[in-house]
Amino acid sequence: MSTLKTSRVVVIGTGQVGSSYAFSLINQNITDEMVLIDLNEEKTEGDAMDLNHGIPFGAPTKIWAGSYSDCKDADIVVITAGANQQPGETRLDLIEKNASIFKKIVTSVMDSGFDGIFIVATNPVDVLAYATWKYSGLPMERVIGSGTLLDTARFRFLLGQYFELDVRNIHGYIIGEHGDTELPVWSQTRIGSERIERYMERYKPEGTKEDLDEIFVNVRDAAYQIIERKGATHYAIAMGLARLTKTILRNEHSLITVSTLLNGEYGLNDLYIGVPAVVGRNGVERIVEIDLTEEESQKLHHSADVLKKAMEPLHE
Ligand code: LAC
Repeated sequence: MSTLKTSRVVVIGTGQVGSSYAFSLINQNITDEMVLIDLNEEKTEGDAMDLNHGIPFGAPTKIWAGSYSDCKDADIVVITAGANQQPGETRLDLIEKNASIFKKIVTSVMDSGFDGIFIVATNPVDVLAYATWKYSGLPMERVIGSGTLLDTARFRFLLGQYFELDVRNIHGYIIGEHGDTELPVWSQTRIGSERIERYMERYKPEGTKEDLDEIFVNVRDAAYQIIERKGATHYAIAMGLARLTKTILRNEHSLITVSTLLNGEYGLNDLYIGVPAVVGRNGVERIVEIDLTEEESQKLHHSADVLKKAMEPLHE
């Protein structure tokens, strides 16, 4: 009798993001097996025990503190390990610290015989997703950065608050670097099926362009605002990673703004950057080139230039 393939997700890095992500996977019943890996082995053992004790309240998931050999049979390896932003630090400031850690991590995963999909969350996520693609030798579709999936969620949430609407009826994207040079695609933002400008004219005539610009600034700077208050962000990114994991394991073909490799799309080449892409069982299935205004295209190219400059040390 054929045995059904059990799904396995390996989480590398069980700091606040990694452990919040593990907690999300259990509560949303997303995977059959979950393996926790961290330099701090005591913490991973404690996390595995603590999460296992919650199983009777959640979903039957096999969880253990493991090692890189457990990656061999994994469907997905999620990397959250590395230093995170300190108050006043940009994500790009983390490159030196995290790029060297990544070479060791990715090499250890590939040495296990891993042949699945990487999801990269550690910042600067666009640069480190590119590094993971390079170090792993896997096809680009199977190396996915969280990109601007969280920024797009923040964008939709704040617009939903502004228009007092269910966030599920807000359609819009933040694209570019997951960082200071990201940009909103206002020209393609819709409330329901109506362009945002048209909706505002009819249902929020008191609204102004300045209001919308302020919403974008709050999206772009959200991490700084949260880090100032509580030292780190982890819940929303963890939930976004869980959403991405579910899309892959359930083969949902969802359109998500992930960090993926561009080879000519949007006139850009040889870099990972946040754009809308269809994601399913085999990773990135299609990069969707949405129409941009000249100004939006210029901002995306500026964002790409900043990332390319930041990636230069990786090519040495
Ligand atoms: C943030 C982290 C995930 O934007 O970069 O909260």
